Amino acid sequence: MNIDELKSVARAIVAQQKGILAADESGPTIKKRFDSIQVECTEESRRRYRELMFTTAGVEQYLGGVILYDETLRQAAKDGTPFATLLSSRGIIPGIKVDKGAKILAMHPAEKITEGLDGLRERLAEYKQLGAQFAKWRAVIEVDAHAVPTPLAIRANAHALARYAALCQEVDIVPIVEPEVLMDGAHGIERCEAVTSEVLEQVFIELDAHCIVLEGMLLKPNMVIPGMKCAQQASVHEVAEATLRCLKRHVPAAVPGIVFLSGGQSAADATDHLNAMNMMGPQPWQVSFSYGRALQAPVLAAWKGQEDNADEAQKAFFARCQLNGLARAGKYSR
Ligand code: 13P
Repeated sequence: MNIDELKSVARAIVAQQKGILAADESGPTIKKRFDSIQVECTEESRRRYRELMFTTAGVEQYLGGVILYDETLRQAAKDGTPFATLLSSRGIIPGIKVDKGAKILAMHPAEKITEGLDGLRERLAEYKQLGAQFAKWRAVIEVDAHAVPTPLAIRANAHALARYAALCQEVDIVPIVEPEVLMDGAHGIERCEAVTSEVLEQVFIELDAHCIVLEGMLLKPNMVIPGMKCAQQASVHEVAEATLRCLKRHVPAAVPGIVFLSGGQSAADATDHLNAMNMMGPQPWQVSFSYGRALQAPVLAAWKGQEDNADEAQKAFFARCQLNGLARAGKYSR
């Protein structure tokens, strides 16, 4: 393991102003996104859509990394340049989603466990050859009012995250550790904070047990936020305060960066929350973004699958990247 390389890649991804574009939607997920704009989902339409984002001028100022899906890492721009090469040449670090999705946890039908550890060592070696310098594994934690998540689901997911992270660091790939407490449901912000606390505590216990070098990883958590169906929504200030309180209690300062997922928040809300946290002063870690929907929703809406709309779509993408870049410094206003 080359600790210096892990550290420098992790730091570069969350350098000043920068965050991550999550463009690693699996086949079924990207189909859902394309269905929403009535675009046929084919290997070529997916390639064209991703090329549009990866070639947008200026976004390298705000993107330290892009997370790709297996298919995308093997694809190329229309001039034949592999996407990983294209991104690297622009100073954007290519990454890869390596989990195989969240499945029902046996005998716990309301909960999920992420699969994909079998054969992961071999897959990581290939991804490294193809140019990936960091990876992502997403654990999904369901929440209800009392019974879910169970301690078992939290432990099983934290354990899998740590096994994945160790396999990554073994081959000098920076692991992004993503324990996502879902914002579906009607639970309040306090419940989200309590569950997120339990999850992060267990995740760092497992990371420690697996000898993960904290300086060479990034954490991708949810924000502490009420469930989407909760009657009592929270202000931007409340979300920022609760999220930072929870993270400060559970995330060691050795971790170089927190890169939030957007998790179903609107693009503007996700940027607002990030901005509010960065306005609350310097934190022990960089406070950044790794947004999927919150960066791409405006792009999809402008593009609609039409080549004629490519300029507008790129403008929308640049604007979202720039606004989140401003939010990295607490300098965004709606
Ligand atoms: P969202 O920002 O759309 O939640 O996606 C981020 C991600 O990569 C989830 O794994």
